[in-house]
Amino acid sequence: MRNLKTEVDALGEVVSKKNSFSAKGLDALGKQIVFSVLRQFFELQAITQELLVKQLNRKHKDLELLIMCGLYAIDNLNQPAHTSVNGAVETSKALKKPWASGLINATLRRYLRERDKIRSRALTTTAAISNHPDWFTRRIQQDWPQEYDQIVSANNTPAPMHLRINQQKVSRNDYIKKLTEVGLQAVKSEHSRYCLTLTDPVSVEKLPGFNLGLVSVQDEAAQLAAILLDPAAGDHVLDACSAPGGKSCHLFEIEPEITLHSIDVDKDRLARVQENFTRLGIRGDIIHQDLLQIKDDQISSFDKILLDAPCSATGVIRRHPDIKLLRRSSDIDKLGSTQRQLLENCWSMLKSQGDLVYATCSILPQENEDLVAEFVQRHADAQPIEVNLTIGKSQAIGHQLLPAIGAHDGFYFAHLRKTSAGKAL
Ligand SMILES: C[S@@+](CC[C@H](N)C(=O)[O-])C[C@H]1O[C@@H](n2cnc3c(N)ncnc32)[C@H](O)[C@@H]1O
Repeated sequence: MRNLKTEVDALGEVVSKKNSFSAKGLDALGKQIVFSVLRQFFELQAITQELLVKQLNRKHKDLELLIMCGLYAIDNLNQPAHTSVNGAVETSKALKKPWASGLINATLRRYLRERDKIRSRALTTTAAISNHPDWFTRRIQQDWPQEYDQIVSANNTPAPMHLRINQQKVSRNDYIKKLTEVGLQAVKSEHSRYCLTLTDPVSVEKLPGFNLGLVSVQDEAAQLAAILLDPAAGDHVLDACSAPGGKSCHLFEIEPEITLHSIDVDKDRLARVQENFTRLGIRGDIIHQDLLQIKDDQISSFDKILLDAPCSATGVIRRHPDIKLLRRSSDIDKLGSTQRQLLENCWSMLKSQGDLVYATCSILPQENEDLVAEFVQRHADAQPIEVNLTIGKSQAIGHQLLPAIGAHDGFYFAHLRKTSAGKAL
C-alpha cells in the first residue's frame, strides 16, 4: 500500500503554486504517477468533480489531487484496486486531514462500483476528452484544424528517447554495438544523422560512455537546429539562448574548430551548460547576459547565430505535461514581444552574409512563421533560406514540425541570411 503524500505535494507545486514539475524527492513510481496525473489532468479532474457530491473548498485542493492520484492508481497500477483505495485513505492522514478519510474511501469506492457511468457522464467536455486546456484546443483548432487529432494524441502519448551521438568520439554504428553489449536496442533515426532512437527509455546512467561524453539525450527535432545552422571551421558562432546547452554542445560536436559563445540570461541554467561542456569536452565561452540589452562590441560580430527563443513550449507537451497547467493564452503575446526583441538584437549581432537560425519548440504560428514573416517585412537585408527537411510542413517562411507519435517533438525553424540588399527599414 503506497502513501501518496509526496506525489500530492509534487502535484500541488504545479497546480496550486504554478511551479514547473520537479521530480525531486520522488522515486520512479512516484514520478510515473505525478507525470501521468499531469498528462491526464483534465480527464481525472472531470471524473473527480463528477464523483464529489459537494465540491471541496479551495483550501482542500490537496484532497482533490489525492483523489486524482487514487483514480490513476486504481486504473493503472499493477495492484488490487482496494490496495490503491487504502493507500489514498491512509494518505489523507499523512496530509493531516484524517477527517477526510471517509470521504476519500467513499469517493474511490463509488468509482469502483460505477466506473463506466461516472466516466461517460464526466468525459463530455473538450477539455476532459482531449486532456488539454480550452484556450489551447481553440488555438489548435484555429491554427491546425486538419492536424488537431494528431497533435492532441501525440501530446497525450509518452515520447520516445532520442540520443545524440557525439561523432567526434564514436560513430552511430559503433554506439549501437555498445548499446547491444549492455542489452539495449536502438535504431538510427531518419532525419538527424546524429540521432538514435532507443527501443525502451532508460536512465542516463545506463547509457554506455555517458559520463565520457559519447552520448547526450536530445529529441531528434531539436538536433535539426545545429544541423541547419551548419557551423564551419573558423566561424564565430553565437548560441543566443543556450541553457541548458544541448544545442551549443551539438554545434561544437559538428565542428570543433568554431569559436563558440553561449549566452543565457538565467544563471542557474547556465550552470547546466557548464556541466554539459565539461562532460562532453566542449570549448566555448559561457556568458551570463540578458540579450534584450546588447553591447556595442557585439554588433556585427558573429558569422552564425542560433536563436532558440524562449517560447510556449507547446511542441513538447508530451515531455512536459505541466505546460498544460502552467501556460496561459495571455503568455503568448508576452512571449512574442520578447521573441521579436531577441530576434532584432541577434540580427544586429550578425555579420553581413551571416546566417541566423530562429528556432522554437512551439507549434503556434504567432511565435513562429507570423513573427518571422513580419521581421522579414521590416528588414530588407533579411533573406529567407529554404529549410530543406523531408519531415514537417514547409511554411511561407520556415518549416514547422508537429509532435509525432513514436518520433520527433514539435519544432519550428527559420533560416535567414543577412544580405547587403539594403538597410533595415
Ligand atoms: C528554449 S530554451 C533554450 C534551450 C537551449 N538552446 C538548449 O538547446 O539547451 C530558451 C532559453 O532562453 C533563455 N532566455 C530567455 N530570455 C533571455 C534573454 N533575454 N537573454 C538571454 N537568454 C534568454 C532562457 O533562460 C532559456 O534558457
